[in-house]
Amino acid sequence: MKIGVLGAGQLGRMMAISGYPLNHQFGFSGNSNNEPSALLGHMFALEDNADNVESLVAFADVITYESENTDVEVVREINKDVQVYPGEKSLFITQHRGREKALFDQLSIPCAPYQMVNSEQDLIDAVDNIGLPAILKTATEGYDGKGQFLIRETSQIADAWKSMNGVESILEGFVNFKRELSLIAVRGIDNDHKYYPLVENTHHDGILRLTIAPAQAINSEVQKTAEHYMQTLLDEMDHVGVLTIELFETEDGLVVNEMAPRVHNSGHWSIEGANTSQFENHVRAISGMPLGDTSPTHPFSAMINIIGEIGPTDLALKMSNAHLHLYDKAERADRKLGHINITANTQSELNASIATLTDFLPN
Ligand SMILES: Nc1ncnc2c1ncn2[C@@H]1O[C@H](COP(=O)(O)OP(=O)(O)OP(=O)(O)O)[C@@H](O)[C@H]1O
Ligand SMILES: [Mg+2]
Repeated sequence: MKIGVLGAGQLGRMMAISGYPLNHQFGFSGNSNNEPSALLGHMFALEDNADNVESLVAFADVITYESENTDVEVVREINKDVQVYPGEKSLFITQHRGREKALFDQLSIPCAPYQMVNSEQDLIDAVDNIGLPAILKTATEGYDGKGQFLIRETSQIADAWKSMNGVESILEGFVNFKRELSLIAVRGIDNDHKYYPLVENTHHDGILRLTIAPAQAINSEVQKTAEHYMQTLLDEMDHVGVLTIELFETEDGLVVNEMAPRVHNSGHWSIEGANTSQFENHVRAISGMPLGDTSPTHPFSAMINIIGEIGPTDLALKMSNAHLHLYDKAERADRKLGHINITANTQSELNASIATLTDFLPN
C-alpha cells in the first residue's frame, strides 16, 4: 500500500522504517528535503500554500498524520478522496485540551479539575473554583510543556494570563502524582484492540527524558483500569491506529492527563522492546493488516531521549543491549534528536546500562 503521512518528522521516519518490510511505500508532506523523513519516501512539498496536499493525496491509498496539531479542515477535505486514519473525530478532540477533558468527563474517566479561560477575569474565577497550585495551559498547540504557566499564588494570575498571549486557555488543578505513566494501544479497522504495558516516564523541564518499560510495581488491576479507559476512548472515537494516554499515578489511583492520536515518544522503546513496535502496529492498523503482538521481548526495557546535542553515542554502540536511533536532525537546544533503547533481563542489568549512558540524562 502507499501510505501518505502529513508531516515529515521522526515519527514518520520510524513509521516508514517499520513499514517497508511489510511492502508498503511512503510519501510525506513537508517543506524541505532535510526533514527527518525526507530520504525515506517521496517528499511532496507544501509549496507556498500550507494546505496544498493534493499531490500527496494523489499518491496515497491511505493517509495518516504525525501531529494532533494537523488542521481538521485539511483532513476533512482529504477524506473526500482518501481515507485518513485516525479519523477526523480523534483529531478534533485530541487537538483541544477542553474537548479532550469534556470527553473524559462524559466517559467517567478521572482527570484533573479544569475550567476554560478566555480572559483575566475568567482566570480569577477559575482559580477561585479550582484552587492553587494550578497550571494554566493553552487549549491547543502545546507540546513538551510549552504554553504552560504553573500558578502557585494569586499574585501570579495577571502574569499567567499575559503569558498566554490572549489565546483560549484551560486552568487545570495541580495533580500530586507519585509517577507519570503512559499507555499505548492500537485499534484496527476490524475493531481489534491491542495494548502495550504501562510505562513510566520521567520529564525534565517539560521534556520526556527517560521511559522504563514496563513500569515497575504495577499491579494487574492498575493495568486493567488503564486499558478500560483506553478501550472506552478508542471505541468512542472509532479510532483506527495508535492512541496514547498520559496518566498520573496518585495515592487515589490513576488520573488521566492527556492523550495523543498517534505513536508517542514514550512508545519508542517498543522498537526493540516489544514483539511488534508501536510504529509497525500503527502502519498495520491503518493499512488493514492484522495487528501484531504487543508483548515485551525482555523483562525490562528503557528509552533515553537524546536532547539538544548528539553526545557520546559510541557508548551506546559498544553495548550489546543498547540500540541507537538518530533522526537526522541538526543540534539545537531542547530538540529531540534521537533516542537510545536498552533491553535487559534483570533490574540490575537495566540500572547498570542506564548508568553507562548517564551522559544523556539531565542531573
Ligand atoms: N494538572 C497537572 N498536575 C501536575 N503536573 C502536570 C499537570 N499537567 C501537566 N503537568 C506536568 O507537565 C508535563 C507536561 O504537561 P502536558 O503533558 O499537559 O503538556 P504537553 O506540552 O502536551 O507535553 P508533552 O508534549 O510532553 O506531552 C506533564 O508531563 C506533567 O509533568
Ligand atoms: Mg504530555
